[in-house]
Amino acid sequence: MQFFIDTANLADIKEAQDLGVLDGVTTNPSLMAKEGISGDENVRNHYKAICAIVEGDVSAEVISTTYTEMIKEGEELVVLDDKIVVKVPMTKDGVKAIKYFSQKGIKTNCTLVFSGGQALLAAKAGATYVSPFIGRLDDISVDGLALIEEIREIYDNYGFATKILAASIRHSAHLLGCAKIGADVMTGPLSVIMSLVNHPLTDSGLVQFLADHERVAKQIK
Ligand code: E4P
Repeated sequence: MQFFIDTANLADIKEAQDLGVLDGVTTNPSLMAKEGISGDENVRNHYKAICAIVEGDVSAEVISTTYTEMIKEGEELVVLDDKIVVKVPMTKDGVKAIKYFSQKGIKTNCTLVFSGGQALLAAKAGATYVSPFIGRLDDISVDGLALIEEIREIYDNYGFATKILAASIRHSAHLLGCAKIGADVMTGPLSVIMSLVNHPLTDSGLVQFLADHERVAKQIK
């Protein structure tokens, strides 16, 4: 399973990269706004700064909503860095744009996916990644992990190469559920990635190991 971090915060991206387990980054317009990034020039410079930190794919979302504008914006984004993946919303124009980018060999991430039908369409259009938002489904009392299962079954039935990028991950149980189902990638905040490190028995076990070592070391002296 690949680990992507879902943020535009450079310090968080660096911390995840330094842990040695990061495979890529996803951003969206809300995450960019959270960092106070706006204006074409600033946005592009920020994507370049992210690409300079990580080794894997970096999803940059288009703001455009029409096919023609999405193509123009996506083509401007991909020249920023080889790591850029054009993130396109699941709309009629978005599907057409994904097909266009796929035929041009440009990687895409189809975002805002909430149903198996949408995921099937994204795969048929040639999306590199499909992003089902499991946390937002859970927020409206719909089982987000069940959607990951459904998409896994559909893609395996037909051998689609599109990767399932489980998005809107809120906690480690989401992440582990996706790992058990076989999602190809998960994207979540730094806190979720770091939460995997912790277990109270690890903490108490380490305290005990170090205390035992110290006790015997003192006896030998
Ligand atoms: C995916 O690429 C999105 O950026 C993200 O996972 C959305 O998550 P949220 O529902 O926590 O905003």
